[in-house]
Amino acid sequence: MPASRRGSGSFTLTTGQTIAIHTRTQDEEDLPHATKKTMADHLRKYESLFTLTPQRMRMIVEAFTETLELGLNKPNQIVPMIPTYVFGWPTGQEKGDFLALDLGGTNLRVCLVTLQGEGKFEISQTKYRLTEEQKQDDGQKLFDFCAECLNTFVETNTGEGAGQLKPGQSLPLGFTFSYPCSQERIDHGELIRWTKGFGAGNTEGRDVAEMFKKSLEKYQLPIKLTALINDTTGTLIASHYVNPKTKIAVIFGTGCNAAYMEHVKNITKIEHLGIDPGAEMAINCEWGAFDSFEHEHLPRTKYDTVVDDTSNKPGEQAFEKLISGRYLGEILRLVLCELIDEGVLFLGQNTYKLEKPYCFDTAFLSLMESDPTDELLMVIGIFTHFFALETTLAERQFFRALAKLIGRRAARLSACGIAAIVSKMNYLDEGCSVGADGSLYNKYPGFADRVHEGLQDIFGDKGRNIVTYHAEDGSGVGSAIIAAMTKHRKDAGLYLNV
Ligand code: BGC
Repeated sequence: MPASRRGSGSFTLTTGQTIAIHTRTQDEEDLPHATKKTMADHLRKYESLFTLTPQRMRMIVEAFTETLELGLNKPNQIVPMIPTYVFGWPTGQEKGDFLALDLGGTNLRVCLVTLQGEGKFEISQTKYRLTEEQKQDDGQKLFDFCAECLNTFVETNTGEGAGQLKPGQSLPLGFTFSYPCSQERIDHGELIRWTKGFGAGNTEGRDVAEMFKKSLEKYQLPIKLTALINDTTGTLIASHYVNPKTKIAVIFGTGCNAAYMEHVKNITKIEHLGIDPGAEMAINCEWGAFDSFEHEHLPRTKYDTVVDDTSNKPGEQAFEKLISGRYLGEILRLVLCELIDEGVLFLGQNTYKLEKPYCFDTAFLSLMESDPTDELLMVIGIFTHFFALETTLAERQFFRALAKLIGRRAARLSACGIAAIVSKMNYLDEGCSVGADGSLYNKYPGFADRVHEGLQDIFGDKGRNIVTYHAEDGSGVGSAIIAAMTKHRKDAGLYLNV
């Protein structure tokens, strides 16, 4: 067996950067490193901090369920349980051309969706990267940028060459705006607060649909904003369009949230609107806000407290900060920094690169967990390439185990959220499908299995009745279907009744 081995691979970070790495194990140790025993002792400590017992999970589910009820009964609650004015499920027969604009946590995406009926569709799309500056600058400028991208897209995809639009014709647009907005109708939405690190000025408390329409006017685009939707609501509708067993949709990406279909009679806070109590309406839970400010129910470690205190929104999105892709890498980095400060890790090495907040991408956790080599060559690659740090096998095994603890906690907490909706809606016995999307769900190895394991820990064997699956594209296809459903309601004269 040779003393050293080589390994190479390439991967894409959430920042969009693609990295190729070539690594080689150390032939000899010339730096002071922590021993295997020291690392094992530390791991035990972190295990007890990050592990969630089934009993604790059940307690969280109970508190979560009560919070969901509260949000339906009273306005302006921490978990706002937002009525979306998306009434009932799609028929599967929705047809036509629709534009969809998706302002997510990382990208801006423009899509042209052709719904063909029978659950079928075609989609063409373009992605535009958002800069940090755009996320923090003036809100109107952000919407102007959205309109500018739409303009370019429409010119390319629906211009005379493409032959899609007749003179005077306008395309209905579904705008997926994935931040908490309280809605009075489907084409309205007052931004409650920015999440996922956004902080664009002059936007919170304002009707973002109006702001966006103003930007559309500047470009005189042949577009009509038909529906403002959340990505979870889009995911719920798109997933049901192709899999009618779907009752819940969840996003585990840069942010985290869920939507489900509720009986209007249970949304008592909008009783005064006089909507048919027998109807059904999708609810955007905005569950990322669960346990915000009071921090009574969730098991926060001191690393979670630092993540929260140093965020642009301290106290807010407490549940999301333990789960979503935006924060997991940072939690792990904070643990490593603590061990550096205690003189356990990287003695004699310059650790400044690792000391920069948010430099440890959550994609690194996925990569560490999926490293198939005995020597953990991928882990070597991450530490040498990005942080110029040498590691021993014992340290690498520790890093990987730590990633597992943090990733597993996120998945088990996600299971608690799903379980709360399942309990509230009594879905356990009949079972249901949960459409799930987002980078964490799609790319983190074993995330879905851990969610399912969590559901069984909460519900016992019956937990198997609740199955998550990779959802349909909610912010593209879902948004188009909702625009189609809304247009249909408007044409039928139903819109004004709401
Ligand atoms: C937002 C939600 C969104 C979720 C997933 C959260 O930060 O508040 O509106 O659904 O991220 O994108």
